[in-house]
Amino acid sequence: MEIKNVFVVGAGLMGSGISQVAAQSGYNVWMCDISQDALDKAMSNIRWSLGKFADKGKLKEAVDVVIKRIQPVLNYDEASKADIVIEAVFEKLDLKQKVFREIDSIAPPHAIFASNTSAISITELAASVKRQDLFIGLHFFSPVQMMAAVEVIRAVTTSEEAFLLGRDFVKSLGKEPIMVNRDIPGFLLNRINLPSTIEAIKLVEAGVASVEDIDKGVKLAFGRKMGIFETGDMVGLDVTYSALMALYEETKDPRWYPPELLRRKVRVGHLGKKTGMGWYKYNEDGKPVGPAL
Ligand SMILES: NC(=O)c1ccc[n+]([C@@H]2O[C@H](COP(=O)([O-])OP(=O)(O)OC[C@H]3O[C@@H](n4cnc5c(N)ncnc54)[C@H](O)[C@@H]3O)[C@@H](O)[C@H]2O)c1
Repeated sequence: MEIKNVFVVGAGLMGSGISQVAAQSGYNVWMCDISQDALDKAMSNIRWSLGKFADKGKLKEAVDVVIKRIQPVLNYDEASKADIVIEAVFEKLDLKQKVFREIDSIAPPHAIFASNTSAISITELAASVKRQDLFIGLHFFSPVQMMAAVEVIRAVTTSEEAFLLGRDFVKSLGKEPIMVNRDIPGFLLNRINLPSTIEAIKLVEAGVASVEDIDKGVKLAFGRKMGIFETGDMVGLDVTYSALMALYEETKDPRWYPPELLRRKVRVGHLGKKTGMGWYKYNEDGKPVGPAL
């Protein structure tokens, strides 16, 4: 099956990034959100990001040519043309299931369904639709435009064909598929990364070191491009919190329970860059201006 048309549901941080890379790779993209404001923001962020690529000589085509491939839409009607549907709405099981159920009755029978969930079981999402064999996880990392790894996750019901189509689609985006053969909580890379995030937060909580020093240390010692807390602010503290809670609820293993400092920050609404305060404090241009409260 040849994929030409991509329907992305959710035009937030991830959905807009996925729409952009798909359009850059020549796909026709419908980018859907329930909020016109979200669509407007997504289109202007995409234009800005493409402009940056163009300035660096890294865009093969004119910005407008790429932009023209993306149609912002406020409903699911155009999913009737989709060869692949990629869902990137809020990290809520019932919402995601509802979205997939509705689109299942609109999309053509051959269309692959993929979720970009951080931590919800792909199998549980697949259970909400009829095409359970065509359901995969496609876990992009933020910022989607820059991060080369994408986890391709096989649900219990996923056919070999759909799993391999997912792999080939990721390659066609110029990204590297990381094949995850079993749908386990946290998939693969979060299972490796979240323990160090939890440990770093607990070390700050215990007064062992500052957020800045931990970030400096992991960048200089481990060659990471971004610190643990810098990444946390970009991803959103609520997203990290939800991922940990999903892992905790699924495994009942207390080691995944979100640390107290993270729970407090989420409760008070310090969610990272998007709220101007998280692990760091940000100015109106989104630049860090020092440690958070
Ligand atoms: N933020 C990250 O770094 C990251 C990384 C990997 C995966 N994820 C996952 O990707 C998904 C999206 O995360 P995000 O950070 O882009 O969220 P976000 O809050 O930036 O965007 C979510 C968007 O979904 C829209 N939406 C809500 N209900 C909808 C519906 N019924 N139909 C269409 N659109 C709807 C919202 O209006 C919003 O614009 C989540 O499942 C998250 O766990 C996030």
